[in-house]
Amino acid sequence: MQAIGIDIGGTKIAGAVVDELGAILMEDRVPTPAGDSALLEDAVVAMVQRLSADRQIAAVGVAAAGFIDASQSLVYYAPNIAWRHEPFREKLEARLHLPIIIENDANAAGWAEFRFGAGRLSSDMVMLTIGTGVGGAIVHQDRLFRGGFGAAAELGHMRVVPGGLPCGCGAHGCIEQYGSGRALLRMAGEIADAGGIGLGLAAARERDEVLTGSAVSALIQEGDPGALAALRTLGGWLGEACASLAAVLDPQVFVFGGGVAQAGDLLLDPIRAAYLNVLPARGYHPEPEFRIAELVNDAGVVGAADLARAHFTVPGDPD
Ligand code: BGC
Ligand code: NA
Ligand code: ZN
Repeated sequence: MQAIGIDIGGTKIAGAVVDELGAILMEDRVPTPAGDSALLEDAVVAMVQRLSADRQIAAVGVAAAGFIDASQSLVYYAPNIAWRHEPFREKLEARLHLPIIIENDANAAGWAEFRFGAGRLSSDMVMLTIGTGVGGAIVHQDRLFRGGFGAAAELGHMRVVPGGLPCGCGAHGCIEQYGSGRALLRMAGEIADAGGIGLGLAAARERDEVLTGSAVSALIQEGDPGALAALRTLGGWLGEACASLAAVLDPQVFVFGGGVAQAGDLLLDPIRAAYLNVLPARGYHPEPEFRIAELVNDAGVVGAADLARAHFTVPGDPD
């Protein structure tokens, strides 16, 4: 049975009809409407209507960047969107008349990587998505780990610096402030300000007035020493966080997704180095693999659709 996955991002909303094997049968995308959450709701409703026209759809999974409750109905809190106790599922159900669940965006991406991508040969996997924020997903013994209130695996809000930088979640010192795409831009900006190794960054800032993610990515690809230094610092923070995660979860594989993970080994190398440097029981604890996500832009929609289908259908039932 086909299911629909919707992934609400900061700049675009992506949607797809996905089959049982994770293949995308139809796709759609629109820019995320600015500001108003009613407009966001309208955009999601219209997209599901377009995707479900003339099709039998088992369920709809909607991935959103926030803390989701255990019944997968409510966005408790979204650090980077203006959602507070948002009953999004109820609102959508009233207009769509299809079975719907709300899913955390990183959980959806992580599940897709576990089922169909970089984590498919493991039973225990941790995923970190490195975008505007830092998202997390934990797969434990082949199942997505949700915790007691539904909001487990908010890995971006692990505290790595007591009393550190303020975070959108209201706390201070979260890894999101040291390991996200936004943090990379901040660190690159600091290098640009300091001159020296940052000549490429300083030039990019002068040219474009503000440093953009795409300018920094381009400099990373060109091997600009300042941009690479910022990426190494970012990887260092993420590697340390992974060592703590390994002490708790002992995954076989860590998967990294999101825009910044496009840097590939340039990101993985400093992550691995920092991980090994601070790892408890170093040399005696089996080493997990560090991998880049395989589904890239499709992970969110594929994972949301697959989780929604699994939520509403009985295993083994051909329907
Ligand atoms: C949010 C998470 C989300 C992540 C990535 C974080 O700020 O708390 O819910 O998964 O950003 O979008
Ligand atoms: Na999560
Ligand atoms: Zn936080």
